[in-house]
Amino acid sequence: MNIQLTINGVMRGFDVDPRQRLSEFIRETLGLTGAKEGCREGECGACTVLVDDSAVNSCLMLAFQADGRRIVTIEGLKTPGGDLSPLQRAFVDHGAVQCGYCTPGMIMAAEGLLRQNPAPSDAEIRHALAGNLCRCTGFQTIVAAVRSQAPAPESTTLAATRPAPHPASPRARGEGKSGAGDSSPRLRGEGRVRGGGSFRAVAEKLGRHSREPGE
Ligand code: FES
Ligand code: FES
Repeated sequence: MNIQLTINGVMRGFDVDPRQRLSEFIRETLGLTGAKEGCREGECGACTVLVDDSAVNSCLMLAFQADGRRIVTIEGLKTPGGDLSPLQRAFVDHGAVQCGYCTPGMIMAAEGLLRQNPAPSDAEIRHALAGNLCRCTGFQTIVAAVRSQAPAPESTTLAATRPAPHPASPRARGEGKSGAGDSSPRLRGEGRVRGGGSFRAVAEKLGRHSREPGE
């Protein structure tokens, strides 16, 4: 069936199988492999993307249900100049990225929260991320990274002056891979917050589906 949607700022039309999951459509048809398929049951959050600025588990949505919607994936978060978004940068700077398997979904869940609520409390951050599992970090650094992008609850002026970390305007589609030779933890982290990295071993270790080993 024919659908039309906006993916990372670009409106496109597609003929989709009505049985295809949105996660499969994004990864296999669009080639945007930042969002991961972990459980495919709505339990891990690795497949999280934004649909009309709200975080959703793309494994629980069919592709045709995205007709007329705006989809943003981790590849769509980078700035027009190709730099990390402030939220992606915060994940790197706070050490909130280890293996990186959960990272794209975690960042998109946080992005959805901050678009809906620019000044969340710690409790609201934890609630928003409750559906995203991380086996590595213990969550403290992830919460700290998200909190760094939100003004203190009592401050109302910071919200107005925060340097556009979550623009509603569309952004360009990216490749989501770190460059060859990126060997330092920081550079690996930068690649992973863009959705890149090799996860065959991680997926096998976690017992998750790995439809495309290495992505
Ligand atoms: S793959 Fe979608 S929630 Fe786990
Ligand atoms: S960094 Fe979260 S699962 Fe590894």
